[in-house]
Amino acid sequence: MFYDPRKNLRPEPLSHNPLNALVAPRPIGWISTISAAGEPNLAPFSYFNAFSADPPLVGFAPNAKPAEAGIVESGVKDSLANVRAVPEFTVSVVSAELVRQMNETSRPLPHGESEFEAADLVAAKSRLVRPPYVKRARAALECVVFDIIDLPVRSGRRGSHLILGEVIGIHIDDELIVNGKVDSRALQQVSRLGYFDYHVVDDVFELLRPR
Ligand SMILES: Cc1cc2nc3c(=O)[nH]c(=O)nc-3n(C[C@H](O)[C@H](O)[C@H](O)COP(=O)(O)O)c2cc1C
Repeated sequence: MFYDPRKNLRPEPLSHNPLNALVAPRPIGWISTISAAGEPNLAPFSYFNAFSADPPLVGFAPNAKPAEAGIVESGVKDSLANVRAVPEFTVSVVSAELVRQMNETSRPLPHGESEFEAADLVAAKSRLVRPPYVKRARAALECVVFDIIDLPVRSGRRGSHLILGEVIGIHIDDELIVNGKVDSRALQQVSRLGYFDYHVVDDVFELLRPR
C-alpha cells in the first residue's frame, strides 16, 4: 500500500499509525525536568534520539496531552512546561531491569507531583544541571536546552514540540566499560517498537567501514 499521512494517519486496513513500527527500534529517553518551583518530573519519550555527536545534541518530542484533543497548545505535558521554565533536562538510559518502573512514570500525574516517588525510584543529584536523574540507571546524560521547536499542526488536534538539548555531562557505570568501550550487551538497553511492543538489545555484531 501507499498513502499520504498528511491526509490520513491510518487508512484502511491499518488499525494504528504505522510510523512507530517502521522507524524502530527507537531508544527511550527517560527525561527528568524540574518545575519553576523545583519539583522534579520524570517521563519516558520514544520520540527521542541523538542528532549530532559534535556538538553532542539529543532531542525528544512531547505531544499535547490526549485529554486536550481539539485544543491545540492547551494540553502541554509537564516535561515541556518545565523546560520552558527551567531549560535543562537529564536522560536516564532504560535497561531491562528498569522497564516496569519506566512504564509507571508514563502515568499522568498532576503537575508538581513527582514520578520518582510514584515509581519508587531514587533521584540522584546531577552535577551540572538542576533536574536529577534515575540513580539506578546505568548511564545518564545531563543536558541544557539548545532549542524548543514548535512543530506544525497537521491533524488539527496536536501541538507537538521538539526539544533539543546539548549534552554537557555523561554518567556511565564503570562496570559497563570493557576494553575502553561501553558493553551494549551488558547495558541491555530497552527501546520502543510500534504499538505496545518493546525491544532489548540482544544481537550485537561488528561491521567495519570500507577503507
Ligand atoms: C515507552 C514510552 C514512550 C513514550 N513516548 C512518548 C513520546 O515520544 N512523546 C509523547 O508525547 N509521549 C510519550 N509517551 C507518553 C508520556 O510518557 C506520557 O504522556 C507522560 O505522562 C508525559 O509526562 P509529563 O506530562 O510528566 O511530561 C511515552 C510513553 C511510554 C511508556
